[in-house]
Amino acid sequence: MVKVLVVGSGGREHTLVWKIAQSPKVDQIYSAPGNPGMKNIATCVNISVDDIKGLADFAEENSVDLTLVGPEAPLVAGIVDEFENRGLGIFGPGKKAAQIEGSKVFSKNLMKKYKIPTGDYRVFEKAQDAIDYINISDVPLVVKAEGLAAGKGVIIAQDRDEAKAAVESIMIDRAFGKSGNRIIIEEYLEGPEVTVLAFCDGKVAVPMVSSRDHKRIFDDNKGPNTGGMGAVSPAPAYSAELSEVVEKNIIQRTVNAMANEGKPFKGILYTGLMLTKAGPKVLEYNCRFGDPETQVVIPRLKTDLIDIVKAVIKGNLIHTEIEWKEETAVCVVMASDGYPGHYEIGKPIKGLEEAEQKGSIVFHAGTAVKNDAIVTSGGRVLGVTALGKEIHDARQKAYEAISQIHFEGMHYRKDIGQ
Ligand code: AMP
Ligand code: GLY
Repeated sequence: MVKVLVVGSGGREHTLVWKIAQSPKVDQIYSAPGNPGMKNIATCVNISVDDIKGLADFAEENSVDLTLVGPEAPLVAGIVDEFENRGLGIFGPGKKAAQIEGSKVFSKNLMKKYKIPTGDYRVFEKAQDAIDYINISDVPLVVKAEGLAAGKGVIIAQDRDEAKAAVESIMIDRAFGKSGNRIIIEEYLEGPEVTVLAFCDGKVAVPMVSSRDHKRIFDDNKGPNTGGMGAVSPAPAYSAELSEVVEKNIIQRTVNAMANEGKPFKGILYTGLMLTKAGPKVLEYNCRFGDPETQVVIPRLKTDLIDIVKAVIKGNLIHTEIEWKEETAVCVVMASDGYPGHYEIGKPIKGLEEAEQKGSIVFHAGTAVKNDAIVTSGGRVLGVTALGKEIHDARQKAYEAISQIHFEGMHYRKDIGQ
């Protein structure tokens, strides 16, 4: 039997805890800091995701066998190296490999060197050079801060003034601090977006079923970008032929490239793709599970996640059978009014049990317990996931569950899976 620690507190982490709790090989799950949705299946411990030493101390003192990490920041900061140095079992890329998300300059240069299809780009270290380049370029253009920026470091500029304003905000006003030391100016790509997560053991990549995020706050992809307002799996535009091309020319090639660079990638490789007319191209890599994508992908996984995690750590993925449910999954995110801008918290949430009685799964993200009641505590509050034979069935089931849930100011998209 194993003891597992899941680091993080969002819908993604609740999904991982929910899946791990189904494993007959697990006798204890901890989550740091976790959330109230996990209370019947995990013990939440109040350690922040950035406190790497505190997390490793906890794992050591409590004989945790396996640690899974949700968010990117501790991975990029080297949590895997710290755990491995102490002989603790952990699932994820080391600091060097996490650069694939931590530095967009690193990942773009890697793609160029290994002929992994991606948009054309230039790297700039000086704001004036970037502005000179914008003056002679066609628009739209995409301006990206090199480093982590909590999902806000990518600006799609429709005209040159917008592009220059983005450069100034990142490189001069330092909107993202050191993450703006360098920027990338990239060709604007068009097409449907697809996310492919893959299990990687340093040598072999095994893609999971595809998914699609819905980043904008309002229906019909209107309004500002968010952390993700819903997801579906599989991604509608993703054919079996495309999936073969992506596996061979993008995902496995990336894992080979990382090994060749002396940065073998272990854990979850997230590949964000644009299906352009000229073929699939990489928009971005992440070194972790996506959110909300995990909330639709992991409920479709039949295989015990612990078996896969152990195989990844041992470098034995090639001998591991991974099976998926044929069903379709839809996840609708319920957010606080005002998100992704300012919003209020502390609103009591009603109908959670009723929603689950309809056969959906309610994953918590921004919730807290106050006077024994569950209240809102963040922008994205809940993710309601349903499985169904066809996307239409999953969609209907998810929205039926949502109709049972109420909190003041709740906002959700009505068009997920449509
Ligand atoms: P990233 O953080 O790099 O995934 O970018 C966030 C979002 O910006 C992506 O999901 C896309 O919707 C969009 N994006 C990023 N790069 C490009 C590009 N080259 N062309 C068009 N849209 C892009
Ligand atoms: N859904 C986007 C992300 O996880 O980065």
